[in-house]
Amino acid sequence: MAGGCACLASACTEKEIQRIADRPIRKNIATLSPSDPIVTTYAAAISAMQALPGTDPRNWHRQAEIHYDFCRHGSWLILPWHRAYLWYFEEICRELTGRNDFALPYWDWTRDPQIPAIFWDESSALFHSARTATPSSSAPDFTTGPTVIDNILSETNFIALAGDPVALNDASEHRPAAGPLETTPHNGIHNFVGGDMGTLMSPLDPIFWTHHGRVDRLWVEWNILRNNPNTNDTAWAATEFTEFVDRKGHPARISVLTTVLLPLLSYRYDTQVESPTSPINPPEDDDELRKRLRKGAKVTLDQRSRFTVPKSAIDGTQPVTLQVPGGENLAGKMSELGTGGTARVSLEFSYMSTTSFAVLVFINSPNGNEKTATEDPGFVGSVSFFDAQMEMGHNRTQMFRLSAVNAVKANGHGPLEVTLVPVSLSGRPLEERENVEVTISVDLLTSTVEAPR
Ligand code: C2O
Repeated sequence: MAGGCACLASACTEKEIQRIADRPIRKNIATLSPSDPIVTTYAAAISAMQALPGTDPRNWHRQAEIHYDFCRHGSWLILPWHRAYLWYFEEICRELTGRNDFALPYWDWTRDPQIPAIFWDESSALFHSARTATPSSSAPDFTTGPTVIDNILSETNFIALAGDPVALNDASEHRPAAGPLETTPHNGIHNFVGGDMGTLMSPLDPIFWTHHGRVDRLWVEWNILRNNPNTNDTAWAATEFTEFVDRKGHPARISVLTTVLLPLLSYRYDTQVESPTSPINPPEDDDELRKRLRKGAKVTLDQRSRFTVPKSAIDGTQPVTLQVPGGENLAGKMSELGTGGTARVSLEFSYMSTTSFAVLVFINSPNGNEKTATEDPGFVGSVSFFDAQMEMGHNRTQMFRLSAVNAVKANGHGPLEVTLVPVSLSGRPLEERENVEVTISVDLLTSTVEAPR
């Protein structure tokens, strides 16, 4: 079994308990010197994977192809899929280096918005030449800053955090939407680093694995430290991934439910608490916690009303402000929904090719721009694109959702307008884009999380 431990209650042997207590620790790369064994082991593992023949599924390129062929984005599967992907990758690193205590370092782009120096050392396997970011560029606050991250983590509904549900084994063309964790910091960093990182072959850049360590760490904080339950929907929990390979290169099978416990059984993070503004008491790492995590909760998010701005063209360089028909006094309408009342903005973009730009979203802040602080009451969030070049030649549609609860509360009196501000992520001037169209909806919903908390 992935995670190596089936014991959930009393059946753990002493040895298992010890192994869990000693599980590898994923550390912030900023705290590690270039000669730290974690850094040198990571580089050695990459070199070893690069040296494997292409017939070995643990080969560096083959690992990236797993992502290209199978990765799950734009739904609530993004978190467990990438957690499993990282864990199997880590296992391969341990096998190839003989360092069983190895765990991937992570890049905390909130505290350190520049790409860590070690990734620029041309003599290291951590170097990758295909990037648009430079050693001096910084990921902007509207993608990864503390206010943005704290707002996302304060969401209590799993669907609203992680993305739209998908049915079990859904093979339809139905396209669900990405939640804010994906839309904003996840996509933002892919796009900011650029080059291979902006594509589905992003795991070719060693940064990828440390970027996803950070995304995974945020899920750990949300789920375990802040004690928010995941969904108990079997469509989520029973989904199985069969595309990974274990440390020997043999096909592996892992369920979403198994990934939920990996951070308690198979690895952990160095620091516990994310936000200095919300002190958190980490719960005991005990059997009760494991049971609670496995159970999850009945989580629903029901749309109560929707106000739509008809499809509009944007040129990718100029801000646009659009009236939302019927959206008057949205704050009042939201409060009529009672305690579970919430609001979000859904944006469906259709575009040909969009690299390295983000779109800032404001409610009733027509002067909002890229210098506007993320604390601005009307700031809803930012959307970044990922994998934007993969369907060159025809339009691609992607849907994103951002929580608008704070912006509606603060600014949702009187008529409603949404302002979209395109912003460059590469430091280069924005280029005009053709055929970028967006359909915006502002939704009121009721959120329920039925958990024994
Ligand atoms: Cu599947 Cu961050 O990518």
